[in-house]
Amino acid sequence: MGPVLGIETSCDETSAAVVAGGRTILSNVVASQVELHRKYGGVVPEIASRDHLRTIIPVVREAICKAGLSLHDIAGIGVTFGPGLVGALLVGVAAAKGLAYALKVPLAGVNHLEGHIFANFLAHPELEPPFVALVVSGGHTSLVHVQGYEKLKLLGQTRDDAAGEVFDKVGRVMGLPYPAGPEIDRLAAAGDPEAVAFPRAMSGKDNRDTYEFSFSGLKSAVVNYLNNLRQRGEKVHIPDVAASFQAAVVDVLVSKTLAAAASLKADKVVLAGGVAANQGLRAEFARRTGSFPAILYPPPKLCTDNAAMIACRAYYQLQAGRADGLTLNAMPALKLTSRGEE
Ligand code: KG4
Ligand code: ZN
Repeated sequence: MGPVLGIETSCDETSAAVVAGGRTILSNVVASQVELHRKYGGVVPEIASRDHLRTIIPVVREAICKAGLSLHDIAGIGVTFGPGLVGALLVGVAAAKGLAYALKVPLAGVNHLEGHIFANFLAHPELEPPFVALVVSGGHTSLVHVQGYEKLKLLGQTRDDAAGEVFDKVGRVMGLPYPAGPEIDRLAAAGDPEAVAFPRAMSGKDNRDTYEFSFSGLKSAVVNYLNNLRQRGEKVHIPDVAASFQAAVVDVLVSKTLAAAASLKADKVVLAGGVAANQGLRAEFARRTGSFPAILYPPPKLCTDNAAMIACRAYYQLQAGRADGLTLNAMPALKLTSRGEE
């Protein structure tokens, strides 16, 4: 099929992209609202919706123009319909439905988390299922067995906070600007990961084989550690705390992912979502695996929210005959669930 237009507005990036043949990015425009939200220390839903509304049409126009196409060259439209902020999602979904109706092209509602996984198909043209995927974003931490483009099996997920959420919350207590993930990553490189022994939840003897995660205990441990030192008037060595905290998150993520890969005899592991940009995570995977299994991840721009990954996911849905009608609605609490698995 011809080029697919992707639209992504689930959180604080307004993005539109054009992807050809499922894997070739012709354009990928991302308008970030991060500066608007920074002074509040996190995303303010109402501000996000209003800014998406202001930006969506210019961003779509720019994506089509940068691809060197006109709207009439578009053969299909993919849009994130969940999970995410309801008001934010509605802007993208309404724009996509309007365009699909006007252009008379098929529409595919994309699960944002599946989009993150599919970013790897854009980054690695030779990549084919099966593989194990670790999805680590601001809102989600999940392990998925990708058996085929339409065959996904959820192996496990976090019981409480997502990995990125914990990076952001711990960073806030450290006094870092939102989003704190990239800043903690940078600080950790200059710190000692063994300076403070933070807990590794769900990785004891009894939980080693479960693919579930829990990060809220770690979050409390870091916050308590910082508060105790401050109360005693002691100096906090921020790089050491950042490195020790990051090591605790990374240790659990890497151990569980490699255990899943070993038990499924997977020869490839892909990382997806904003936290997949973390240098410490990538380095630890490399340290513990050598050359097997292969560890693949997208470049940072395709790890964080973008519409190219949504267009890629939509392409495979449309190829499989999974188009949605104009009744498609935003589903803020959409889950990543198993589909078509063996
Ligand atoms: O996937 P994403 O862009 O949005 C969601 O779907 O949530 O992920 C954003 C999350 C934020 O929590 C951010 O702090 C985190 O990814 N993040 C990182 C890094 N870059 C982004 N966390 C740790 N290290 C990084 N280098
Ligand atoms: Zn995301």
